[in-house]
Amino acid sequence: MIKIKNLVKEYTNGSGVTRVLDGVDLTIHPGEVLAVVGPSGAGKSTLAHCVNLLERPTSGSVEVNSNDLTRLKSRELRVARRSIGTIFQSAGLQTRRTVAENVGLPLRYLGATDRAHRRRVAELLDRVGLSERADFYPHQLSGGQQQRVGIARALTLRPSVLLADEATSGLDPETTRSITTLLRELRDELDLAILFITHEMDTVVNVADTVARLDHGRIVEHGQIGDLLVDSQSAVGAALIAVDSRAARSFADAANDVWHIAYGAENVRSDWLAVLSAEVDPQIGLLQADVRIVNGYVVGYALVRAANHRREAFRDSVRRLGLNGTLLEGTDLRQRELEVVGQ
Ligand SMILES: Nc1ncnc2c1ncn2[C@@H]1O[C@H](COP(=O)(O)OP(=O)(O)OP(=O)(O)O)[C@@H](O)[C@H]1O
Ligand SMILES: [Mg+2]
Repeated sequence: MIKIKNLVKEYTNGSGVTRVLDGVDLTIHPGEVLAVVGPSGAGKSTLAHCVNLLERPTSGSVEVNSNDLTRLKSRELRVARRSIGTIFQSAGLQTRRTVAENVGLPLRYLGATDRAHRRRVAELLDRVGLSERADFYPHQLSGGQQQRVGIARALTLRPSVLLADEATSGLDPETTRSITTLLRELRDELDLAILFITHEMDTVVNVADTVARLDHGRIVEHGQIGDLLVDSQSAVGAALIAVDSRAARSFADAANDVWHIAYGAENVRSDWLAVLSAEVDPQIGLLQADVRIVNGYVVGYALVRAANHRREAFRDSVRRLGLNGTLLEGTDLRQRELEVVGQ
């Protein structure tokens, strides 16, 4: 379990003080993958560096299994850091060492016996499916294989937390999928708390249990992926499903509203549109609708048009039916999606 509390990071340079992390609070439980998303420059990598204390936070705390890393002296910190495994973008392997040597490096630094060392390396390479490649050098491996070596190395010292910053960026979709599948398996087998930083929303869908959106150093949204998906106010939810409401919005006019409806299909009666029609507006129009399975959740979306003199009745019915409804005016969901995704 990792608890990040009120984390602040400021850099001081010629032009003054820049606050890059502005009071970040996050908890990741064992067996949970938290994806952190956000635009370039939001502070995601800074967060990763502060969590394993490669950089000193300006204030706040980082507790791993109730041990506050920010309070430790450098020797204690070196020991405590073993509970955090880190996976870098493009694996960060040592090019002049073999796969087995790379995976065993953390043990070598600890002075483990040769036998213990060999056994652990063999076990890890077997787990990530690379036993046959033990004596290869990194440049003889594909990008996905290199990343598997990076994962094996991160696990060498049996951490309880994994930290991944853009670990799948630059990999093709299929390879990305195999890495996210591996991470989810490891999450379950080892009860890992995983902090997974990415700017790829497709990857988030495949890997995350919870999602936090970081913007200008603050967490502006945080929740279970299933809740965000059906929350029509959620920019992350909109980005994950990429509902394009532009065409439908042109159906709004002096007498009619256009609403964005989102719902968890398992919790909502399937004839909700008929109910709205009976209770609110017999002329209700269905402009667009979709049901998808996202990360195991069945989520439904619809864009509907209804008479605006019945707006309050519409709100009441939507609430009673357990739907999430957003009147589309001003903020375009699609535009908000682009704010999240557009890097
Ligand atoms: N050492 C530093 N000194 C001053 N400013 C820094 C330093 N490191 C990072 N920053 C600033 O902090 C902000 C956040 O950077 P960070 O690398 O954390 O963003 P990011 O969310 O990881 O972006 P990306 O998606 O592009 O990787 C940026 O504006 C950056 O210029
Ligand atoms: Mg970054």
